[in-house]
Amino acid sequence: MKDKIKKILKKKHNSKIVCLTAYSKNIAEEVDKYADITLVGDSLGSVLYNYTTTRKVTLKDMIDHSRSARLGIKKSLMVVDMPHNTYNTKSSALKNAKKIIKETRCDAVKLEGGKKIINQIKHLIKNKIQVMGHLGLLPQTTKKFKSKGKSVKEKNQLIKDALLLQSNGVFGIVLECIKTSTAKQITETLKIPTIGIGSSVHCDGQVLVTDDLIGLNNSNIKFVKKFVNIRKYLNYGLRKFTLEVKAKKYPTKKHSY
Ligand code: KIV
Repeated sequence: MKDKIKKILKKKHNSKIVCLTAYSKNIAEEVDKYADITLVGDSLGSVLYNYTTTRKVTLKDMIDHSRSARLGIKKSLMVVDMPHNTYNTKSSALKNAKKIIKETRCDAVKLEGGKKIINQIKHLIKNKIQVMGHLGLLPQTTKKFKSKGKSVKEKNQLIKDALLLQSNGVFGIVLECIKTSTAKQITETLKIPTIGIGSSVHCDGQVLVTDDLIGLNNSNIKFVKKFVNIRKYLNYGLRKFTLEVKAKKYPTKKHSY
């Protein structure tokens, strides 16, 4: 795991870092072929369960999906989101991070926030747990979906938080929905990589929710680009199966015992 992190750190200034989400084995198997980091994100709450907020996602949800995803991940660094309310204190953060790591065999955990949760982050790192940071739009605590780092005050706070996370040992930071110039400045200021989502091309890497980019999930968020419409292929197969069943063309002798 340390080697995987070293490789990711080396990519800063050299090549872009690819981060993708996976919530289960079969998708993880495909994602793992391309991603440097496979993230079991708590976005699974909205993508799979139609929750209007990630605050409803439980520790059990994250562990169950991560155990499945783990089966498909061979080479990429596996990061699991710690869900809302599972890292309110130093001791709960450590207890829950240990549980996630023990039950899912993930390489690292991701927590949302800067100064407010720095004691929890410090405590995890002191206990040899690898941590990824997440700044900008924080879905677990934000009420409004709006971009960050526009005002000088917000920009300075973000830079301060990013430096604080770095100096306390996080190996990378997700920057979500941060104004282009601010994301660029944070990326240039830090020694560790930034992984952007809606935060411009200037970040060291990019992350997207896989279900969004393959068109399985219908998302109208500005930063989402649909790279393929997988539902089209899914429908092609499902329709063919249905037609063949109805026409008694399937199963043939070949598929029968
Ligand atoms: O939950 C998630 O999938 C995330 C990414 C979108 C960064 O945190």
